[in-house]
Amino acid sequence: MRTRVAIVGAGPAGSLLAHLLHGAGIDSVVLERRSRAYVLGRVRAGVLEAGSVRVLRDAGLAGRMDAPTADGGGDPHDGVGLSLDQGHLRIGFTEAVGRRVMLWGQTEVQHDLYDALDADGVTLLDEIDDVELHDLTTDAPSVTFTRDGATQRLDCDWIVGCDGSRGTSRLAIPEDLRRTYERAYPFGWLGILSETPPVDDELIYASHERGFALCSMRHAMLSRYYLQCDDTDVVEDWSDDRFWTELSERLPDEAAAALVTGPSVEKSIAPLRSFVSEPMRHGRLLLAGDAAHVVPPTGAKGLNLAIGDVVLVEAALRRHYDDGDDEALDRYSETALRRVWKAVRFSWWLTTLTHRFPDRDDFDRRIQAAEFHHLATSPHARATFADNYTGLPIPVDQLTTPPEHVTTPQTPTATGARA
Ligand code: APR
Ligand code: PHB
Repeated sequence: MRTRVAIVGAGPAGSLLAHLLHGAGIDSVVLERRSRAYVLGRVRAGVLEAGSVRVLRDAGLAGRMDAPTADGGGDPHDGVGLSLDQGHLRIGFTEAVGRRVMLWGQTEVQHDLYDALDADGVTLLDEIDDVELHDLTTDAPSVTFTRDGATQRLDCDWIVGCDGSRGTSRLAIPEDLRRTYERAYPFGWLGILSETPPVDDELIYASHERGFALCSMRHAMLSRYYLQCDDTDVVEDWSDDRFWTELSERLPDEAAAALVTGPSVEKSIAPLRSFVSEPMRHGRLLLAGDAAHVVPPTGAKGLNLAIGDVVLVEAALRRHYDDGDDEALDRYSETALRRVWKAVRFSWWLTTLTHRFPDRDDFDRRIQAAEFHHLATSPHARATFADNYTGLPIPVDQLTTPPEHVTTPQTPTATGARA
């Protein structure tokens, strides 16, 4: 079998890439380990940055998202609430930065992507296993894998590793060329879905002595709530009653009074970590999405980062095939990582601002209170929050003309001057 671009993984990164490449007239084959039902059934976060919304619209993937909210479409949000104990503040987006976000579940995005790939006629081979990448530093790379017990080989020009945080593509980059940066957080998130009206029209990120809580939603009768929990907790530790009692404790009184409870229809626990693997290109292998970086869900950046990477990969590959120009491919890793690290920073910062860290003390709590007060009183602080939350630009132009004032961090010399 032969294709131009072999894509490993059919999550949002891999399936969006295949669809964008199809639009550019570049053929690809997608290799996915899981079944279609499994991929479509995963419950993930639900906030799309303004730039992600634009990408989905431009790619013809926004039909259901742009349907009226009352008919089950996406829900534009113009702000979020933050609370610290009983203090509550709202950060308005449009007034601060002139753009907003869209509440539209990743499950729905994945659904639309699989439908689009069917319509495109893109080959998606699912339930494959034993993916191995070969000859990455030659002009003729290939992927081998097993399907229905038989080994198959896919010859290609490029391989894009979109196989998520537990994927193996990044491990094909030799260890001495690969560097990983990691931060584990000493807690997890317990999430539930319940068929109840959301506690508020907007999301509430709540920081409390007892731990963090997040109130989110999917639509008028489907709420998504999260609680910070111990990293050793299992779902069985958390009855619905215990969940609702704890959530009420962590919300400001007014929100707690408005909370409508009901049976959970989904309940799961996820660990929190920040992780970046550099570089994002090695020879004919490019990495995109969770395969290269993981962020804690606090800033809802995971899906948005994947979309940003994929837009850059598609632009770089289009340039390669249309113009025979590889400059954009050469700049892909550096360009993508610059944006990735800003989202890693924001996700880490918002996690640090809102969670209770078991090993920290009153000093840290006072710092959190100071940050919160700064947000409450400074339009500049709120604008910085809104700028990051609604999404920094996807820097397609920097694939060809990097801004002169942006430099890759280097180790300072003893005098503080750059080496
Ligand atoms: N071979 C083939 N497919 C694989 C392999 C493998 N060895 N390992 C993993 N996969 C598949 C997974 O089954 C999954 O469908 O790769 C896909 C990766 O998808 P995601 O984990 O959704 O990652 P990504 O597409 O980068 O999307 C990032 O989705 O995972 C969330 O929180 C994440 O919001 C973020 C966004
Ligand atoms: C969600 O709706 O699942 C969600 C929203 C915001 C986050 C994380 C998850 O920061």
